[in-house]
Amino acid sequence: MKHLLSIADLSRDEIGEIMDTAISMHDVQRRQVKKLPTLRGRTIINFFFEDSTRTRSSFEIAGKWMSADTINLTGKGTSVSKGESLRDTVKTVDAMGVDMMIVRHMASGAPAQIAQWTNCSIVNAGDGMHEHPSQALLDAYTLRSKLGDLDGKHIAIVGDLTHSRVLRSNLLCLRALGANVTLVAPPTLMPSGIGSWAATDSFEVSYDLDAVLPHVDAVMMLRVQRERMSGGYFPTAREYAVRYGLTARRLALMPRHAVITHPGPMNRGLEISADAADDAQSLVLDQVSAGVAVRMSILFHLLSGEGSSA
Ligand code: ASP
Ligand code: CP
Repeated sequence: MKHLLSIADLSRDEIGEIMDTAISMHDVQRRQVKKLPTLRGRTIINFFFEDSTRTRSSFEIAGKWMSADTINLTGKGTSVSKGESLRDTVKTVDAMGVDMMIVRHMASGAPAQIAQWTNCSIVNAGDGMHEHPSQALLDAYTLRSKLGDLDGKHIAIVGDLTHSRVLRSNLLCLRALGANVTLVAPPTLMPSGIGSWAATDSFEVSYDLDAVLPHVDAVMMLRVQRERMSGGYFPTAREYAVRYGLTARRLALMPRHAVITHPGPMNRGLEISADAADDAQSLVLDQVSAGVAVRMSILFHLLSGEGSSA
């Protein structure tokens, strides 16, 4: 494995291997001295053309704990602001001899395009509305550590699905692991063409969150992504919260063992209430913690695993 561009490129076994390695990486994370020599001498560029708190810092921490040299570049503060093209920017950085670029970009497909222009490993850290594979892997890892094997587990993915790259990667990942998935959204935020997706895979679609919640093992709440909305997708925030928010009343509809995830950042009071976000069954901070371990595992598999140029 040289790149991580899409979950579709991974087999069920490869997803399992990344999650299994992350278990040992999680042990490192709990040590007082968090340092492995594994990536000594390797150079990783974090190339973030879009804002990020969790993904950028956890990839940087992961690289540092594995002894790689990590450097952060953003759109602002680089010659991108002087009009340098993406291709010239990437080729310039590549010419310095880096081993990996971790790329977040507002355009779907940008990391795959960059992979054509360079010789180094490329990790997709979120591209437009397309995919966010490391998020799906850390979500699967977090769910598996609480629920056990995900085969046959029922997971509802709820919210602004149209604009969500987290949905696209998670649907591929959860289905590869054998989970049963139900997508829940208002009709205006259900991706167009969902019928043809459903025809090539087996997942359910529902517009009624109350009816789905009593049957879930996990509910994955997704953010209302206002920055990607050009028009009115729902009448008011209050109406959205009433119909599709995970409120205290809806929390009571879930089975006691069922867990709650949210990739963050959360809009508290909109898609998720404070009661749900801070509930004992909420895994939001477990996801953040798993994010470092899973990203260490990704770096390990891409930079020191079989088939890498290492
Ligand atoms: N942070 C995730 C992403 O970048 C989810 C979100 O922003 O809602 O896709
Ligand atoms: N979940 C996620 O990708 O968060 P950031 O946008 O803060 O990186």
